[in-house]
Amino acid sequence: MVIFGRGCFDQLEDILSAKRRQPTGGMVFLVDDIFEAGDFKKRLPLKNTDQLIWVNVDDEPKTSYVDQLTETVKVQFAQHPQRLPDGVIGIGGGSTMDLAKAVALMLTNPGSSVDYQGWDLIKNPAVYHVAVPTLSGTGAEVSRTTVLTGPEKKLGINSDHTVFDQMVLDPDLITGAPREQRFYTGMDCYIHCIESLTGTFLNSFSRSYGEKALELCRDVFLGKGPDQDDKLMMASYFGGMSIAYSQVGICHALSYGLSFVLGLHHGIGNSIAFDYLEEFYGPGVREFRRMLETQEIALPRNIVADLSAAQIEKMVDVAMILEPLWENALGPDWKKLMPRSRIRELYLRM
Ligand SMILES: NC(=O)c1ccc[n+]([C@@H]2O[C@H](COP(=O)([O-])OP(=O)(O)OC[C@H]3O[C@@H](n4cnc5c(N)ncnc54)[C@H](O)[C@@H]3O)[C@@H](O)[C@H]2O)c1
Ligand SMILES: [Fe+2]
Repeated sequence: MVIFGRGCFDQLEDILSAKRRQPTGGMVFLVDDIFEAGDFKKRLPLKNTDQLIWVNVDDEPKTSYVDQLTETVKVQFAQHPQRLPDGVIGIGGGSTMDLAKAVALMLTNPGSSVDYQGWDLIKNPAVYHVAVPTLSGTGAEVSRTTVLTGPEKKLGINSDHTVFDQMVLDPDLITGAPREQRFYTGMDCYIHCIESLTGTFLNSFSRSYGEKALELCRDVFLGKGPDQDDKLMMASYFGGMSIAYSQVGICHALSYGLSFVLGLHHGIGNSIAFDYLEEFYGPGVREFRRMLETQEIALPRNIVADLSAAQIEKMVDVAMILEPLWENALGPDWKKLMPRSRIRELYLRM
């Protein structure tokens, strides 16, 4: 289910009330702590049985953080008859939405979130969960994954149960995002479109959504028309839908390695990597450079200069785990086309 429109955030309680088990029920609000200062809290439809947790996303979501948050929720709801909240609402960018997805899953699945990094390992349906994006581009509001960094790898919990039950898309909420952050997160969407539309997994479903998302990204990052926030929010949604039935590609694989070793956030990691991928995504990379120019963004350079050989190898390891991404980009023979040495060379350029 999805609602869209400026101000629609104020309908959140109408949606939640249908899910509240009176009188013992309670909702968990996981909210980006960037909103802790200010009046945003007053807009949260908090009831006295609800739990509000301000989450910190200075680091992208780690499995250890997910396990810790899940424990905090379990303790709060230990005395409730169902021992579970009625729902989990994630309010923030991709990181916060991913935390909400992961906590909703881990409340009903035993063990650590590390055990579920991969494809279709989740056994039990999640607690009801709702996405409220405050940044647009990742498509996390619509995707079937929650991307987590564990001790060994950065890899999503990919499953049908990961998908949000409800999305509340209110363009007002992304209006205040800092210019550079908005750009980098927006480029995540643009790169989703390019990787999906040029990939070998492309099909009519992915093409339909990907083409529309790409058009919206061009309006937002190369044009100056009205309704930029509305368009970016829809681009994120459509871009996420596009990769739901296809895959991302080389840029994302490399970006995961950058995040794992350097702690770079996803959008900026993607942007850094994409600039070196002209040989694979020529027209897309050239258009991306025009967007950089139009938006007056200067990419960080020489980011691997101080890394040890072992750290570079770790980046290559992390990137190579993502086999479906390479296969989407290069086809079933990707291992021949992209040996370790070539991945290493790409990193060394950055
Ligand atoms: N699940 C998926 O399908 C998927 C896809 C792509 C990326 N991701 C994940 O999404 C994350 C990146 O998400 P993101 O780019 O949206 O950024 P983010 O959630 O990591 O947030 C980036 C920064 O912006 C701040 N912020 C968020 N909303 C704001 C607002 N309205 N105003 C001011 N500051 C705000 C945050 O506090 C943070 O400091 C990564 O963890 C990545 O792995 C997930
Ligand atoms: Fe992405």
